[in-house]
Amino acid sequence: MSKTLLKATNIAHAFDYQLFTDINFELSTQESIAIVGRSGSGKSTLLHIFSSFTKPNKGNVNLLNQEIYHLKEDNIEAIRRYELGIIFQAHYLFKGMTALENIEIATILSNEKIDNRLLEQLEIKELMHQKIGELSGGQQQRVSIARVLNKKPKIIFADEPTGNLDKETAQLVMNVLLTYVKEHNAGLVLVTHDESMAKLCNKRYRLENQILEAF
Ligand SMILES: Nc1ncnc2c1ncn2[C@@H]1O[C@H](COP(=O)(O)OP(=O)(O)OP(=O)(O)O)[C@@H](O)[C@H]1O
Ligand SMILES: [Mg+2]
Repeated sequence: MSKTLLKATNIAHAFDYQLFTDINFELSTQESIAIVGRSGSGKSTLLHIFSSFTKPNKGNVNLLNQEIYHLKEDNIEAIRRYELGIIFQAHYLFKGMTALENIEIATILSNEKIDNRLLEQLEIKELMHQKIGELSGGQQQRVSIARVLNKKPKIIFADEPTGNLDKETAQLVMNVLLTYVKEHNAGLVLVTHDESMAKLCNKRYRLENQILEAF
């Protein structure tokens, strides 16, 4: 049976200009949802709002059955650490460490073991002993995705996870994410510019003129 993982209601937010006024959004287990839209439309901001990092000016975000912006910081931290997989545009790997050390840190923090199958699926198993600084941008991106999935999150929030990748590698990364969602009864919210990646998801929305419209 599918369960609701995320429910956002009547979300409004503005920075210099009004980004959106009344966004409603729901994500269930086994579900992948893509959000597309022009640069500056507020996609990353919306992802930050859904994932506990930005309190919206108006509206509610219910994440894993908790009103996330009513919780104390310690509780929010615990949810981020154990339940959420955050793949954002800038991936914060430790540059002086190896790929393996970067993944190990995340697994220790979340009490998980390293999943070798995941490293194989992402085609990065052979790179584990190289320093992050020696890897290409796309290889680093895949290491950061492995690091996130290794902690077995309930919800993955991914902001352009295939942005630096060639078509074939992008496809591979999408397959890993979508397989993860099915196998772990998780959910995926994907922000992308690439409509061919969006097509692989169960649902697609466009953020335009301050609203989120299915297409
Ligand atoms: N923390 C912030 N403080 C002030 N303004 C911000 C902040 N974050 C985003 N903005 C502004 O909000 C608008 C939307 O930004 P956002 O990053 O959400 O867009 P986006 O749709 O993700 O764009 P892109 O496709 O280029 O990544 C931009 O004008 C940006 O300058
Ligand atoms: Mg963005």
